[in-house]
Amino acid sequence: MPQLLNMFSSNLSLTQGAKKNMAYEPKNFDNLLGTKGLSDTLLKNHFTLYQGYVTNTNKLADALNAMQKEGKTGTPEYAEFKRRFGWEFNGMRLHEYYFGNMIKGGKPIDRNTNFYMKIVEDFGSFENWEKDFRAVGAMRGIGWVILYYDDTADRLFNTWINEHDAGHLCGASPMLVMDVFEHAYLTDYGIKKADYIEAFFKAIDWTIDPNLDSRLFG
Ligand SMILES: [Fe+2]
Repeated sequence: MPQLLNMFSSNLSLTQGAKKNMAYEPKNFDNLLGTKGLSDTLLKNHFTLYQGYVTNTNKLADALNAMQKEGKTGTPEYAEFKRRFGWEFNGMRLHEYYFGNMIKGGKPIDRNTNFYMKIVEDFGSFENWEKDFRAVGAMRGIGWVILYYDDTADRLFNTWINEHDAGHLCGASPMLVMDVFEHAYLTDYGIKKADYIEAFFKAIDWTIDPNLDSRLFG
């Protein structure tokens, strides 16, 4: 979605800028406190958990860098850190997308956008898309649901992401991200995941930057 894509664009510009090898800094999402259906206790715990991913991403990046310089790339420790990196990094970035695509009170999708029309084109109706996205979220297990856009074939997919690092569509753009780990709802809803998904839908910020809307879907 727009917020996601805005973040996506800023990440791209960061890599082109003068800041190199900078540590990741946790972003502040306190603007979400007071969101209907998601208690402050739940959100604050979730923010703390997210900050842990930022910390561990930095730790792993530094450790891998040091091991590479010390010639320790053939060690089991290097291999395990390397395997772990995608999990920590995606845990960080996916939470930023998730919190970033919510806003207190929610903002409905603009039915005049190309994005909206693309959803209708691919799923038959917006309601069909929503029903499918919710159904993916209701699947047994922990993970994420992502509405991905693959511009090589101009197709949208509701995608299940296992943990943080398995199931992503390489090169596709995340348009909407929903956390369905138990920590995202257990505090407020117990095991009633569908009720949490309802609360999430009421908090989605569907705003899309007009330039991105025309560039991706125009
Ligand atoms: Fe989470």
